Amino acid sequence: MDIKNIKSEFPIFNQKINGKPLVYLDSANSSQKPKTVINRMSNFYETEFSNVGRSVHSLAVKATNRFEDARDQVKNYINAKHREEIIFTKGATESINLVASSFGEKFINKGDEILTTELEHHSNYVPWHFIRQKKGAIIKFAPVNEKGEVEIDEIKKLISNKTKIIAITHISNVTGTIMPLKKIIGLAKEKKIPVLVDGTQGAPHLKLDMQDLDCDFYAISCHKMYGPNGLGILYAKKKWLEELPPYQGGGGMISEVLKEKVTFATSPTKFEAGTMQTAEVVAFSEAIKFIKDLGIENIQNHENEVLEYGIEKLRRNNSVNIVGDPSNRGSVICFTMKGIHPHDIATILDDDGVAIRAGHHCCQILHDKLGISATARASIGVYNSKEDIDILCNAIDKCKKVFEV
Ligand SMILES: Cc1ncc(COP(=O)(O)O)c(C=O)c1O
Repeated sequence: MDIKNIKSEFPIFNQKINGKPLVYLDSANSSQKPKTVINRMSNFYETEFSNVGRSVHSLAVKATNRFEDARDQVKNYINAKHREEIIFTKGATESINLVASSFGEKFINKGDEILTTELEHHSNYVPWHFIRQKKGAIIKFAPVNEKGEVEIDEIKKLISNKTKIIAITHISNVTGTIMPLKKIIGLAKEKKIPVLVDGTQGAPHLKLDMQDLDCDFYAISCHKMYGPNGLGILYAKKKWLEELPPYQGGGGMISEVLKEKVTFATSPTKFEAGTMQTAEVVAFSEAIKFIKDLGIENIQNHENEVLEYGIEKLRRNNSVNIVGDPSNRGSVICFTMKGIHPHDIATILDDDGVAIRAGHHCCQILHDKLGISATARASIGVYNSKEDIDILCNAIDKCKKVFEV
């Protein structure tokens, strides 16, 4: 596979949108799927489908093996120590809710502190808000500076002997800031504070090594990693999964159910209640294979080239204001244009087949801090090229003409 011609691996690009070739710049929202992933989904349903972890017939055994093979693939890909540390969820949102709920239930009490940042997606704030409400805990927010970065000293200042967990993003889905995770985790380790990383925007773009990173929890969104929708992963260190109470109750997650008492299965099953996604999990192995075949470093280099080209070109446009200027940025460019609402920008760009997202991107706290209600966001995936950026910039010029700004 050649990264320069990688669009041909994605059937979605075989069509025109509003009569124009599709320029998909919305991968931070959800990525497109390569044909290997799509084919594996349909092939699984056509020839191998069964529920997993229940029946003993041949199809069920085979499907269960495929499902558990996928867990091994994930474990190896992110270099987790144990396969039991990989929990399948319905998305990064559910992964974080699982931790907030189970960890919060057991370890967070009145007056305890949860440390997070102003950069976070609602998925890494609202679940902690629930615990704040339920337990009378306090949420502290490390502030974002003008560049869109969270300084390590600000985090240091906010850590206290009441801090029970640090919940922090890997890459901001608005400013693209890549957080200095190793330093933050090092700081937390000194104080024996566990760290949850919202890896939703990190996992599709950066090499993952859980043993090296040494975080306690890492949430992944498979649908942003060229994998199927409705699937996420929670990586959690084994010791936590042994200690935490289950998140949801139901079939599959139990050891014994009596009228008087219920005992639970061990991890990962303990945290996978009810019928799981099957074709999605199996097909996610193909997404990992796709990334591995290309090489995550090659993907990162390619995306960085496109990103830098985009930032430079947009900076030259006087009508465009790029949000944030972090020294270490991932594949996201949020921008505003004076006199044009981001939703209008997105609508006009769509006429030219350019798909971007507009809004607060589930980061209202950050937008409030920046003093804006919404931004337009172009986000880059493996299939984007400098030509896509040129088409984006031409479409932006069209916006200027339409709105006469
Ligand atoms: C930083 C961040 N965290 C969490 C989420 C939620 O991920 P999911 O859609 O897998 O629940 C997103 C989705 O956009 C995100 O960008």
